[in-house]
Amino acid sequence: MIRVERAKVYFEVRKGFFKRDIVKAVDGVSFKIDKGKTLALVGESGCGKTTLGKLTLRLVKPIEGRVFFDGLDITNLKEKELKEFRRKAQIIFQDPYSSLDPTQNVYQIVEEPLLIHKVGEKKERVYKALEDVKLIPQEDFLGKYPHQLSGGQRQRVSIARALVLEPNYIVADEPVSMIDASSRAEILFLLKELQAKKNLTFLYITHDIATAKYFADEIAVMYLGKIVEYGNPQEVIKEPKHPYTQALIEAIPEPEPKNKDRLRKIIGGEPPNPINVPKGCRFHPRCPYFMKDICDTKEPELKRVEGKREISCYLYEFRRDY
Ligand SMILES: Nc1ncnc2c1ncn2[C@@H]1O[C@H](COP(=O)(O)OP(=O)(O)O)[C@@H](O)[C@H]1O
Ligand SMILES: [Mg+2]
Repeated sequence: MIRVERAKVYFEVRKGFFKRDIVKAVDGVSFKIDKGKTLALVGESGCGKTTLGKLTLRLVKPIEGRVFFDGLDITNLKEKELKEFRRKAQIIFQDPYSSLDPTQNVYQIVEEPLLIHKVGEKKERVYKALEDVKLIPQEDFLGKYPHQLSGGQRQRVSIARALVLEPNYIVADEPVSMIDASSRAEILFLLKELQAKKNLTFLYITHDIATAKYFADEIAVMYLGKIVEYGNPQEVIKEPKHPYTQALIEAIPEPEPKNKDRLRKIIGGEPPNPINVPKGCRFHPRCPYFMKDICDTKEPELKRVEGKREISCYLYEFRRDY
C-alpha cells in the first residue's frame, strides 16, 4: 500500500545573511505498510516523525529516494495527479485546537474537502462522516463551532473531515496527545473500529510507545531521522534490542513533556540535533554500550536479526548471544 525507499528529506534554514544550516529531518528511511495494517512510528519529538508522515502524503518532497502508493510512484506527481492521490490519503493532526478553523462550524469544516475536490452529495456525506465518528444526532453538532466542543469531540470532527472523502490511507499524527487523558482510549478505539470497518491503512505517529502495542501491527522506532528498530510491537516492547528503544521503554509511563526529562535522565548526553548528526551511529554519544572505533566510524545498517525484527546497532553484529 505504502512504500518508502531510502528517502531523505532535508530542510534549509537560513542563519544570518550568509550562513545556512541543513536540517536532516529524514535521513535515509525505507519501510512499507500493507493494506489494512497500521505501522506505529515512535520516537522523541524532533526525530522526524511528522516529516516522514507528510512524505507519504507528498506534502513534502524527498531530496532522495522514492515513495509509492498502491504501486504508483508518487515521488514526482504533477499537480493534477497529486490532487487525485490526495483524495485517497488524508492526515489527522495532533492538535485539534489549531487544525480546525475557529470561524467555521462543524458542517463547514467537514464539508470543505468535498468542495475542494468537487464531490457531490455533500449533505449525505457529511452526515455519514459524523455518524462514523459517533457525533450523533448530527443536528446537535452541525452548527457548533470548535470552541463549543470538548477536546475529544474536536478530534472526532478532524477524523470526520479526514474520512469524508473516503480515503484508504490515513496518517494519524499523534491524534490523542493533545486531548484529555479520559478521551484518549475512546479516540484510539474509534480509529481502530473505523479501520476494521473501512479496511483503512494507518501510519500512527506517537511518542508514546505504550499505545503502539494496542494500536499497531508493526512498529518503527526513529532516532534522528532514521529507523533504528523495527518489528512486532508486543515483541519490541517486551524485549527492546536497540539501546535507544530500551531507553524509550524505560521512560514509560510518563507522557511528554515530563517524559522528555525522564528520557534525558535515562539516556544522558546531548539531546539529538538534526543539524549536527554524529558520525557513525547517530546514537553513539548517548549510548551506554558505546564501542570506540566501531560505533563512531561507520553508520550501522538496519539489519534483520530474527523473524521480522530489524535493528541498526553494532552490538548485534558482533554479539550472537542476545
Ligand atoms: N519546514 C521545515 N523547515 C525547517 N525545519 C523543519 C521543517 N519541518 C520540520 N523541521 C525540522 O525537522 C526536524 C524533524 O521535525 P518533525 O518531523 O516535526 O519531528 P517530530 O514530528 O518527530 O517531532 C526538526 O528538527 C524540525 O525542527
Ligand atoms: Mg510531530
